Amino acid sequence: KINNYFLIETKNTSYLLSVDEKTNLLAHHYYGKKIKIHDYEPLIGKLDGGAGTAILYEGKENKFIHYMDLEYSTIGRGDYRESSIILFNEKLGYTFDFKYESYQIIENNIVEEPIPHSKNYDQVLIITLKDEVAGLKLELYYKVFEEYDVISKYCKLINESSDTYIVERLMSSQIDFKDGDFTLMTFDGNWGKERHVHERDLTVGIYTNDSKMGISSNMHNPLTILKRKKTTENQGIAYGFNLIYSGNHQTFFEVSINNKLRVLSGMSFYAYKKNLKENESFMTPESIITFSSDGLNGLSHNFHEFTLNCIIPSKFKNYLRPIVINNWEATYFNFDEEKLLKLAKVAKKLGIEMFVLDDGWFGHRDNDRSSLGDFYVNSKKLPHGLKYIVDKVNKIGLDFGLWFEPEMISEDSDLYRKHPDWAVKVPRRKPSIGRNQLVLDLTKKEVQDYLIDEISKILSLCNIKYVKWDFNRPITDMYSTSLSNNGEFFHEYIQGLYRILDTLTKRFSDILFEGCASGGNRFDLGMLCYMPQTWTSDNTDYYERLFIQTGTTYGYPLSSISNHVSSIPNHQTLRKTPLASRFHLACLGVLGYELNLLELTSREQKEIKKQIEFYKKYRHIFQYGTLYRSEKTIFNSNVTTFTVVSKDKKEAVVILCQGLVKMAQQEDVIYVDGLDNDTLYEFYNLKHHLNIKMFGGLLNVVSPIKVKINGVVHKAI
Ligand code: DGJ
Repeated sequence: KINNYFLIETKNTSYLLSVDEKTNLLAHHYYGKKIKIHDYEPLIGKLDGGAGTAILYEGKENKFIHYMDLEYSTIGRGDYRESSIILFNEKLGYTFDFKYESYQIIENNIVEEPIPHSKNYDQVLIITLKDEVAGLKLELYYKVFEEYDVISKYCKLINESSDTYIVERLMSSQIDFKDGDFTLMTFDGNWGKERHVHERDLTVGIYTNDSKMGISSNMHNPLTILKRKKTTENQGIAYGFNLIYSGNHQTFFEVSINNKLRVLSGMSFYAYKKNLKENESFMTPESIITFSSDGLNGLSHNFHEFTLNCIIPSKFKNYLRPIVINNWEATYFNFDEEKLLKLAKVAKKLGIEMFVLDDGWFGHRDNDRSSLGDFYVNSKKLPHGLKYIVDKVNKIGLDFGLWFEPEMISEDSDLYRKHPDWAVKVPRRKPSIGRNQLVLDLTKKEVQDYLIDEISKILSLCNIKYVKWDFNRPITDMYSTSLSNNGEFFHEYIQGLYRILDTLTKRFSDILFEGCASGGNRFDLGMLCYMPQTWTSDNTDYYERLFIQTGTTYGYPLSSISNHVSSIPNHQTLRKTPLASRFHLACLGVLGYELNLLELTSREQKEIKKQIEFYKKYRHIFQYGTLYRSEKTIFNSNVTTFTVVSKDKKEAVVILCQGLVKMAQQEDVIYVDGLDNDTLYEFYNLKHHLNIKMFGGLLNVVSPIKVKINGVVHKAI
């Protein structure tokens, strides 16, 4: 603190705010590249007073708050932009005003935090504001992560009055930029099309990136990036925003007519209203902000290092993630002990380390219409029980992983027959259905306890080393018979989920959890606090996945991105691509296989064996190296390169990916980034084999005898 100013510094960034002398409001002055100046005065916005319809705050000279850069804006006092806080109560209506009261700097890593939260920060600044008239206190928290150029912002609203206030919005972070000359990147999609990059130049008006699905969603990931028009992957400035939260989120980008930009981010208050009674408080999730002047790659490195060091459970920070075989696309619901063990045996032969039993092992679940909520084994498929198959797979030499979809309930389940009120639905209204199932009411403590108990029993009974935690339908009909205020459903649901995850991941701290939600429908920092990796997408088609994985890398580290090699024709697109391409792309993160290995030719099996040997040799780079996207990504070019450099910069792996096979393209040039100038590198390529079957009838152009295409001879060749 210097006079009226608060200067927050990280390795390469500065963040400056002050208490405005005349108004006692908190004013924002700067966020960006580190500055070293003695006089902050030039950074204060100079208002052009006397504007016709502008409002003077409390009649104070030149205090047009609509034009000021504020640190936390309120409503009803003359700032007509989107505000950080919206409150209502009968006595005061919609007008609230928070003025500076005091500050505190905390060094000892003990501070009140939301659930879940980041760890390993250096310092925390807490600024307390007060609305004297309302009797409300607002604490603004700034956690500083010096090394990663990250600041985490959140706030706590405390009701010190005897009145009740309705909280209609409470954002975690506000940043007022001096100009709006930015391109906004968002990461949007759908099932099988997650985190595609979309860009638009900001202009006067409001752009909102949000989710209303009850989860962070595949429609709009909470990650957003602002860059200057000339910023590229390796050059220029960029700002990144994300949220440690798995429910509905909202980020506003508002450019006003004088080209000022306001960015507000936090949990969404869509269909959400909090009643704040006497002595109650409400804390927002953490909003993550970061800045880099080394382009988008630089920005991604901040996010990646921050996530690895401050978000995921520390035990898994450098943990080499196992190569799995997942039976889902190999068998879907149609499996038995014999099939699974056969698959496990081949997997072991090829070098795979973990066998994951996916959906269909419980109740009488032979399709997606039943049994969610029941945790007893499907005795038709696994007559000797779960422990038996786990032990058998262990004997083969593989670890065992198990799929769960705990947050759901099928109408055709014992659980539903016993507790129909445990499903999320509105009394007297027929609920909407997704994938033939309903959502379990996680706002109810007894439901949370049921899930904790049932899952604990299984994880204690069997030697399970990995859990895939699925979630296959978004929330509708949000209502709980146990809540006194159903306006609070969405956030209460997520809090219930976090309690379950916290208990289970602490109780079974050696188990590697992988998050999943119909693929990547809940790929966010909240889930990553408990589960160090996420199933990126159900779409395993090589071409489609190039987009999905590229988009994901902007905000999330490679070790959180789980990828599987699947069979061709691809089950989502029916496209055929070479096994080598599918493998190379799946290497960018955590590798797995999800196909019927028994149906492969011996040549393909041999190829996979080699792939796995290669991946194991460089696994530390693929999972924990520093990733550089080439200047041209798949979003603007058919050919793109990824370079992953080991931490000591002695080794790197470069993957050149071609989207579609096209004629008359530029010759292949590998653009390598991130290498050390003083190190001598030796380059070598992997050999590619093409399956002769791919050439179809062309074979007969060179064959001395006529070969029947797809006949026995063709196959033999
Ligand atoms: C959706 C997941 O994303 C898939 O990988 C698979 O686990 C299915 N659910 C199983 O129902």
